[in-house]
Amino acid sequence: MDNSQSLVKTAKALVAPGKGILAADESTGTIGARFAALGVENVERKRRDYREMLVSTEGASKFISGVILYDETLRQNCSDGTPMVKLLEERGIIPGIKVDTRTHPLAGAPGEVVTEGLDGLRRRMAEYYEIGARFAKWRAVIAIGPHLPSSYCIEVNAHALGRYAALAQEAGLVPIVEPEVLMDGDHDIDRCYEVTQGTLREVYSQLASQRVILEGTLLKCNMVLSGKDASNRAGPDEVAVGTVDCLMRNVPAAVPGITFLSGGQSGEEATNNLRAINIRGKEMGTPWELSFSFARALQSEPLQVWAANGGATLPAQKAFYHRASLTAAARGAA
Ligand code: 13P
Repeated sequence: MDNSQSLVKTAKALVAPGKGILAADESTGTIGARFAALGVENVERKRRDYREMLVSTEGASKFISGVILYDETLRQNCSDGTPMVKLLEERGIIPGIKVDTRTHPLAGAPGEVVTEGLDGLRRRMAEYYEIGARFAKWRAVIAIGPHLPSSYCIEVNAHALGRYAALAQEAGLVPIVEPEVLMDGDHDIDRCYEVTQGTLREVYSQLASQRVILEGTLLKCNMVLSGKDASNRAGPDEVAVGTVDCLMRNVPAAVPGITFLSGGQSGEEATNNLRAINIRGKEMGTPWELSFSFARALQSEPLQVWAANGGATLPAQKAFYHRASLTAAARGAA
């Protein structure tokens, strides 16, 4: 069956003007680490309550087009018994699903990782579609270090992204293709540019060889940033120039949108950088929507408020609404 029209429609809806994606697909271990830092017990009910709080925020669908869920949440019912997927659909928010099975050490490449999850992926994605997911996410991770990344690491991760993207489209799911160049380290912004460029070139070469329909995909990549521990970190204007130039040279115009990850930036830093990127993008006439798919930058404030108020919903929803509205506004500030 040729499902390319519906893939294109979903991809465009996910990056509709003024909206973006909430990534709430932390694995049980990752959400556990975030909960532990705030003294919240990592049990299924708390994970459900927290995510239900986010997605049921009144008015959030003005800013949030889709939510990426973890397997557990996609199958979960809300506290009143409504399936989580149904709640999202009722609010006009598109359900998505993380389908990789996380990073593992890459053989023969100390300090580097490869993302796994291809075995059985066709079957799993067919089931996710049945449950109601309409898009998917696979995250590849590239680390910067004195001798990293290796071209081997970039190649195997890009190859896996191509395998995943082709299978997702076959299943009717829009693949979010996520090659994340980490901001860990003291490298400067030029080094991030160089590694991001090398990664994007390999990713689009693999997507082309593996017959992926670019119009039915989204790119989720890092902004071009200084390393977290760099002295004199680049500000929003420099980040915007580096990011937009790098994307213009390496991302095909057929891709409908770029949904940046926040990568450990605070909500405020990610919002400011997204605003500057959109202004620069307009100046340069970029062909894609420049949007967001943030996890930490959208969630850190509401999570803290939720934990500090013993799981009370309304104050946390207020914090989430506020951050989501600022983030969405950053898309249209030019
Ligand atoms: P951050 O925005 O916290 O980087 O998370 C985005 C994401 O989905 C990582 O895969």
